[in-house]
Amino acid sequence: MKILAIDTSCDETSVAVLNGRVLLSNIVASQTELHKKWGGVVPMVARRAHEENLPKAINEALKRAKQKPSDIEYVAVTQGPGLAIDLEVGITEAKKFAIENGIPLIAVNHMEGHLLSSLILNSNGSGRYPFIDLEPLFPALGLLVSGKHTEIIYMKGIGDYEKIGQTLDDAAGEAFDKFGRMMGFGYPGGPIVASFAKKGDVGKIELPIPMQKSKDLNFSYSGLKTAALYRLEELRSSGKKDKELAANFCAQFEYSVVQSILLKLEKAIELYPDAKTLFTGGGVFHNESLSRRVGWLARREGLRYLLPEKRFRSDNAAMIGLVAFFKASRGEVLKGEKKLSQLDRVPRMGL
Ligand code: KG4
Ligand code: ZN
Repeated sequence: MKILAIDTSCDETSVAVLNGRVLLSNIVASQTELHKKWGGVVPMVARRAHEENLPKAINEALKRAKQKPSDIEYVAVTQGPGLAIDLEVGITEAKKFAIENGIPLIAVNHMEGHLLSSLILNSNGSGRYPFIDLEPLFPALGLLVSGKHTEIIYMKGIGDYEKIGQTLDDAAGEAFDKFGRMMGFGYPGGPIVASFAKKGDVGKIELPIPMQKSKDLNFSYSGLKTAALYRLEELRSSGKKDKELAANFCAQFEYSVVQSILLKLEKAIELYPDAKTLFTGGGVFHNESLSRRVGWLARREGLRYLLPEKRFRSDNAAMIGLVAFFKASRGEVLKGEKKLSQLDRVPRMGL
């Protein structure tokens, strides 16, 4: 089953070609440099870049996959969540591709892509988790940690999800980025905070662990952000400023964020004892402290830990194509010009 998949939900223009679960090509045109000077993603700037890059990325993805447009059986596109005017670029192009080639379109939830990104197989059929039979993995838990989302999902099976925890304010990635901005680092702050944290020690600066006492599975980072701002002002007014202090501060901030995630994950495992697997996804899993400690916890509790390959943790169209494969297998496709014309973006789409 040959699928061409498109994702333009945020600041990456991505196109992938898959044959079932097997990835044939994956183009990711990152716009990070373009948005750096603004300190964040500017939707209109992103839209212009998507419009310019998408047709080229489609051609390149087909070329690298050694496929012609007429070889493609389905076109898949992110419907949401994401930035409205950016999602539109991908959807418009996907509709055009579907009509020109007379094939069905599959609308995909970007977060389901992150959730299942561990299951993508490489061109030789290998992959991190080359399971053939996916059934024994379920029921499972999913932990999504990205720039916009921090969520725990109970997964009864592929396509059958229940959100059991989410952030009440900022996402964990957003908290890292805002803290990075406070520290005067560039955009995105998360990776810079993480590299400073590696050189620092935990326990030198006091910061709270968010939602430590709450009984539910939700997250919140605004209190931690405010506490960090106060600590920073105190340290600045005392005239202290050196690299060691910055490293310790970053280490403590990272610890607080990771600890808050571990606490809620542990609670989720306790509440859903039938879960056999932990699926993970999202750009914040580039953080080694998070990916390592979540892995320890999952294994300690007897869950199989699925961590996507690094290139599939951030936004990419391969994961969109993978979800489309499962949806096509269930017949969840849109056929005909009338159905296609009704498809619209859903910027706040939930799982
Ligand atoms: O999933 P993603 O690529 O984009 C979406 O939000 O869809 O996640 C990006 C987020 C940013 O907030 C970035 O700062 C964060 O992931 N991030 C990290 C690290 N690498 C990326 N946060 C902490 N430590 C890292 N090493
Ligand atoms: Zn994403």
